[in-house]
Amino acid sequence: MCFQEWLPCYPKRMFLSDLNNTYLPEDFTMGKGSGFGKVILFGEHFVVHGIPGIVSAIDSTADAEVKKIARGITIRDERKGSKGYAEEKKAQQLESIDRVLKAMGIEPETVAFDIWLGGNLPGFSGLGASAASSVAIARAIAEEIGKRFSDEKINEIAYEAEKAYAGTPSGIDNTAATFGGLLWFEKNMKGGDNTIGKLRIRNPVEIVIGSTGVVANTKAMVEGVAERKRNHPEKYDSLFEQAAAIVLIGRKALQEYDLKKIGELMNDNHRLLQEIEVSHKKLDYLVDVARKQGAYGAKMTGGGGGGCMVALTPGKDSQEKVANAIKKAGCEVLRTRIGVEKT
Ligand code: PMV
Repeated sequence: MCFQEWLPCYPKRMFLSDLNNTYLPEDFTMGKGSGFGKVILFGEHFVVHGIPGIVSAIDSTADAEVKKIARGITIRDERKGSKGYAEEKKAQQLESIDRVLKAMGIEPETVAFDIWLGGNLPGFSGLGASAASSVAIARAIAEEIGKRFSDEKINEIAYEAEKAYAGTPSGIDNTAATFGGLLWFEKNMKGGDNTIGKLRIRNPVEIVIGSTGVVANTKAMVEGVAERKRNHPEKYDSLFEQAAAIVLIGRKALQEYDLKKIGELMNDNHRLLQEIEVSHKKLDYLVDVARKQGAYGAKMTGGGGGGCMVALTPGKDSQEKVANAIKKAGCEVLRTRIGVEKT
């Protein structure tokens, strides 16, 4: 990995894996781990094709506990989420666990685990819940089998797992899930190290995340963009150029703490995402609600086709106003902030 100004950080909610449990008899121990959820501020989908993206981890995590058992893999998924989320993701989840094990150099048939999944990151599409759970599971399995992996290695393992959910992921989700923070991410299209840089802003800024409740298939959304890009190169080349410009100007606006500009760019980014056909009528509606309630900007976030939107709402009052309007529209909300150190 190529880190710029890199400071590794660990989950803010340190979960139980922080406790030194070496005094417990072996049968009572289990591996534990966590991974952050995230919102993409600029560049989802474009980032898969080598355009840079900016992502912020959020202060919600997926948590996992793993215990060796006699045979097979059992999964107890107790995460709260959109209706149908767990069922819809089941096959991809099983494939992702297989991939985690293989990436750790373990033949899946040779091990048997009970895996519990929980935490305060809801299973809403678009918040990187799959990547967060893969990071949590990888950390928990490593702990259970007594292996020590660096965060860079956990990130590589979770990237392999993400392929089950996203087909050809960029790597932005697993990177945010592993390291946390506000990050610049650029996929190396030649297959080498990705460029990852820590971004800092003057003060944390309030955001509101609204969930449409529609469960989306990231893999299908990513494939759809790739196909349309192949079929309409001229249209897509121009859209991709605009997306690249937005991310660059967005980084400058974040560094200069120009919140109005960041909001405008989020709006521009949403328009591009509509043009590549990954938005959804419920996302467009919630984006509109947020803007009408005074958000500086709003856009869908993540894979789209349902899932979540994010609104920039500096100050508690603005955040409350937008969150209440989204709730009134019948949708679930998360209130959080970007730019908080260690998330
Ligand atoms: O919907 P999510 O949370 O899985 O986010 C997907 C983000 C994409 O840019 C669409 C895919 C990727 O791997 O970058």
